[in-house]
Amino acid sequence: MDLFEKCRQFDRADRIRAAGFYPYYKTVEGAHGPDIVIDGKPVIMAGSNNYLGLTVHPHVLEAARVALERYGASTCGSRLMSGTITLHSDLERRLARFLGYEDALLLATGYQTPQAIIPVLAQRGDLVLSDRDNHASIVRANAMATGQGARVLRFKHNDMPHLEALLRAAPLETPKLIATDGVFSTTGVIADMPQLVSLARRYNARIMCDDAHATGVLGRTGRGTGEHFGLGPDDIDLVMGTFSKSLASQGGFVAGPSVVIDYLRNVAPPAMFSASPPPPVVAAALAALDILEAEPERIARLHQNVSRVITALRAAGFTVLSPGGTGIVSILVGQEERTFVMAKALLEAGVFVNPFVSPGVPQGQDLIRTSFMATHEPWHLDAVIAAITRVGLELGLIPWRSAAD
Ligand SMILES: Cc1ncc(COP(=O)(O)O)c(C=O)c1O
Repeated sequence: MDLFEKCRQFDRADRIRAAGFYPYYKTVEGAHGPDIVIDGKPVIMAGSNNYLGLTVHPHVLEAARVALERYGASTCGSRLMSGTITLHSDLERRLARFLGYEDALLLATGYQTPQAIIPVLAQRGDLVLSDRDNHASIVRANAMATGQGARVLRFKHNDMPHLEALLRAAPLETPKLIATDGVFSTTGVIADMPQLVSLARRYNARIMCDDAHATGVLGRTGRGTGEHFGLGPDDIDLVMGTFSKSLASQGGFVAGPSVVIDYLRNVAPPAMFSASPPPPVVAAALAALDILEAEPERIARLHQNVSRVITALRAAGFTVLSPGGTGIVSILVGQEERTFVMAKALLEAGVFVNPFVSPGVPQGQDLIRTSFMATHEPWHLDAVIAAITRVGLELGLIPWRSAAD
């Protein structure tokens, strides 16, 4: 059989295209802000991770322009070889200081970052305990750790008794890593970090928290899950994140004790064998960090926006899966085709959202994820709420009675 046979037999995307629902790879014209253009039509963006609205901020744009002219378009090399410039070291220092850790390491993408941590630290004889709803990048990194001889066990989502049972069953002296998202990307649920920390202490485990959706979002000053719970570097051993959400750029990072970060810097394959983030991209992240530090009120605005949407959608009768306090508002739909139909109807109504179906979420948990920015105005939010309510009524997701209340 030909290696490509599986590609010829793959018909899922074609079936969705044929039904007219294919929602992916939409071309967005112009910059990502609250208002975008798709297929020549103005649309409200309610499906972006640009939580603080900084992708079009003049300071971010200017910093990227200056770096482009000074350092050129690319470093054309890995951090280890020829790819480190002053901007990379500046951003590492700034991030470590901002998050309160001894040191930080930059990687080319957030997706690569768990691969620079989990399979590098967890090898033969070690145990990884991973929340079942962790992001795909952690799932991939776990598979690599298994390939290195580590044992990987998944615990039920945010289920501390289950995690404790798994920890108790392992020998105390076994080195362990608990891997969790800080904010879970499909629902906006926040990890039970105080309990994770307490279990980690009791059972000789280290914690790695993926704060991709928490940096710039959780905590009064946006320092993430640790700040949200009043925890710090003595509690959460390693924090990783991405610049592609609140920090309006691209690339990943991990912050932690200098002895660990220096080890990763020198032995983690993604740091050694992949070109470093390009200069304008790093400068944009540095500028976004300036704004985050100078204008924490953006975080409060984001939370107000999300709270307004959650309150309205709950009142309309939707099952809102998100607790609030993050940038994410997800609505349970529970059926694949209906989820695609809803995303399409919303786009036709002028609202861009993200549909999630299996395997991105467990079967039967299909959902529409909306996400918001500090820069959405009240009229954007009202238009999004009105469109979701109308489409939800048409699809029978909410009862007519509740919507009228
Ligand atoms: C929790 C989480 N971790 C990591 C990533 C990967 O980050 P990036 O897209 O910047 O590579 C994402 C992206 O969606 C994410 O949601």
